[in-house]
Amino acid sequence: MSQKPKIIVSVTLPPDLRDRLAASCDIIDVPVGQRPEEVLSAETRAQVSGMVCTMKTKIDTGLLEALPALTVSSNFAVGFDNVDVAAATSRKVLICNTPRVLDGAVADVTIGLMLCLARNLVAGDAFVRSGAWTKGAFPLTRDIRGKTLGLLGMGRIGRVVARTAQAFDMPVIYHNRREDPEAKGLATYVGRDELFKTSEVLSVHIPLSAETRHSVGKRELSLMKPTAYLINTARGPVVDEAALIEALRAGSIAGAGLDVMEQEPLPASSPLCELPNVVLQAHVGSATHETRRAMIDLAVNNLLDALGGKQPVAMVNPEVWRARA
Ligand code: DGY
Repeated sequence: MSQKPKIIVSVTLPPDLRDRLAASCDIIDVPVGQRPEEVLSAETRAQVSGMVCTMKTKIDTGLLEALPALTVSSNFAVGFDNVDVAAATSRKVLICNTPRVLDGAVADVTIGLMLCLARNLVAGDAFVRSGAWTKGAFPLTRDIRGKTLGLLGMGRIGRVVARTAQAFDMPVIYHNRREDPEAKGLATYVGRDELFKTSEVLSVHIPLSAETRHSVGKRELSLMKPTAYLINTARGPVVDEAALIEALRAGSIAGAGLDVMEQEPLPASSPLCELPNVVLQAHVGSATHETRRAMIDLAVNNLLDALGGKQPVAMVNPEVWRARA
């Protein structure tokens, strides 16, 4: 019988990484998004000590009970709202993720959405393609230069957005649970309400948790200027989508750029798809060849390190690792 650790792979791996994993582990494939307890026998599940998966795998008490020998699960994502971290920690299951390598890519989409909104670039493309240009000029748009960018959340991605915004001469303000020493010289810390009241572009960079769910709601949106844009490249449910749709319909804010929504994939029947003052993307913040490769490299390294007794680079619940040591 093989002495290699058995691992669940619930992500599409490049062939070289699959070979790397197969050299030291027995791979058990579980289709992306399917629950291991639905596709694997109890006997197989009892032998699984590691897993690499996407956000589509819900790591909850049921899954942890179904994989009693699991020691590490490596998320192919920086976000870990698919994981019940407290339940994993209490069962001594180490959770890893992929921070840092996607900061630039997500920041780029944030800036892209901002430019699309202010300069109406998506409508401009349709205007030219349809021949409407031959009948008259495209309506004037708005500058972003000199306009205040507000960041709700100043973590790694927020800092890259702030740095990039400096190239657009945008004053940057932010609100966080606490002031970030690394943001000194980059952005000014303000109170939460002031952030919503003052920003011309308000970009969300906080993780999704029970505390942050719908934390941008009717009240926050009502504080915003009618000329302001909301951008969300973090997680859809951080923003109360029904309240946002209401604000967009009423014109109480100027527009929204969304890479994430409450329901993904977003159905075409969503009212968001009808609104002319919205630019939508398909949760593609990190979706470039280079960034996704860096993320999957990190996810696989995290898994192999943890299984091999070496401290992984990125841990969500490092206390589990410390307790092992
Ligand atoms: C992440 O890594 O969290 C991105 O949103 C992709 O899911």
